[in-house]
Amino acid sequence: MGFYESAAKPLLFRLDPERAHSLGFWFIRHGLVRARPSYHRLLRQTLFGVYFQSPLGLAAGFDKSAQALAHWHQLGFGFVEVGTVTAQPQPGNPKPRLFRLPRDQALINRMGFNNEGAHQVSRNISTSNPQLPYGINIGKSRTAPFEQAAKDYQEAFRSLHSFGAYFAINVSSPNTPGLTELQEKGPLLEIIHALREVNPDRPLFVKVSPDLDTAALDRVIEAVHEANLTGLIATNTTALREGLRRDPRETGGLSGRPLKHRALDVLSHLYKSCNPNVVLIGVGGIMDGDDLYERIAHGANLCQVYTSWVYRGPSLVPLALRRLVTLMERKNLRSIDALRGIALR
Ligand SMILES: Cc1cc2nc3c(=O)[nH]c(=O)nc-3n(C[C@H](O)[C@H](O)[C@H](O)COP(=O)(O)O)c2cc1C
Repeated sequence: MGFYESAAKPLLFRLDPERAHSLGFWFIRHGLVRARPSYHRLLRQTLFGVYFQSPLGLAAGFDKSAQALAHWHQLGFGFVEVGTVTAQPQPGNPKPRLFRLPRDQALINRMGFNNEGAHQVSRNISTSNPQLPYGINIGKSRTAPFEQAAKDYQEAFRSLHSFGAYFAINVSSPNTPGLTELQEKGPLLEIIHALREVNPDRPLFVKVSPDLDTAALDRVIEAVHEANLTGLIATNTTALREGLRRDPRETGGLSGRPLKHRALDVLSHLYKSCNPNVVLIGVGGIMDGDDLYERIAHGANLCQVYTSWVYRGPSLVPLALRRLVTLMERKNLRSIDALRGIALR
């Protein structure tokens, strides 16, 4: 057991989850937490013109306002997604809004896009010195009406479009009323067109919910193909409560181990149905290196973690990457691309 699990975690887990997050984040922002990097030549790849040293990134929601961009490479990540950022600053939902489910290795959150707003985030980014590729996840402000959603995403994008390696259009958080309805083809295309009006050249991804059925997923895929989007991120948290050992009966999005099978199923469906050039980022319940290997074998080009990182701490990333390399070497797979999708062929 490393320092985090034996010493830091027992202290942090005694605190209220959001206070623990703020404290941990303070240490990260000040460059006081590090993990031994374990990059390896098998893990390098270039996708949509961006060079990634490893396929494992930090998912959206941890660094919502891009306050720690200069430090994520010290924790061994291959990339990070900041946000969700909204056009205007917003405080999010009333506390408590983050809950631990330790027996299930899961979290429930209803943060509600608390962030400093696109303008301040653009300043945070321009005064930091990121050493790794980062994406920017944008979402709808709580106060923007459904009919004005495309304009609202556009406003956030206007402040941020010159930064970042890619943009994630978040239409899948269960914590902003009406947001997931924007996953329908019409509203989604409207958002994409509004962003392209500002800048047609930036790589765009759509982040989908694990709660969409196959028909709804297929409509998202149609929009992605029609608009020639760079890729998809699968998945956000789930509003469902399946397979929990202890359900705290809190509303919000569930993440971590109970999400694993559904997120893997959604990813597999996307891999089978999308044009081969659509880049897929797998996220949801990746708990270790075996899960990482499995996710790439089911079609992911890149992967992200959030909840397992909270439970396992900084050693998760190097351990998972080392395990991934071991499994790839065992099968004589010489690149991430060679592993990608082998479970579905
Ligand atoms: C506390 C918390 C806050 C989150 N905030 C966001 C967010 O702002 N935007 C977003 O797209 N996803 C957000 N997510 C979802 C994660 O990015 C990820 O899709 C989800 O947690 C599944 O991955 P995991 O099982 O590895 O945690 C959040 C997740 C958690 C636990």
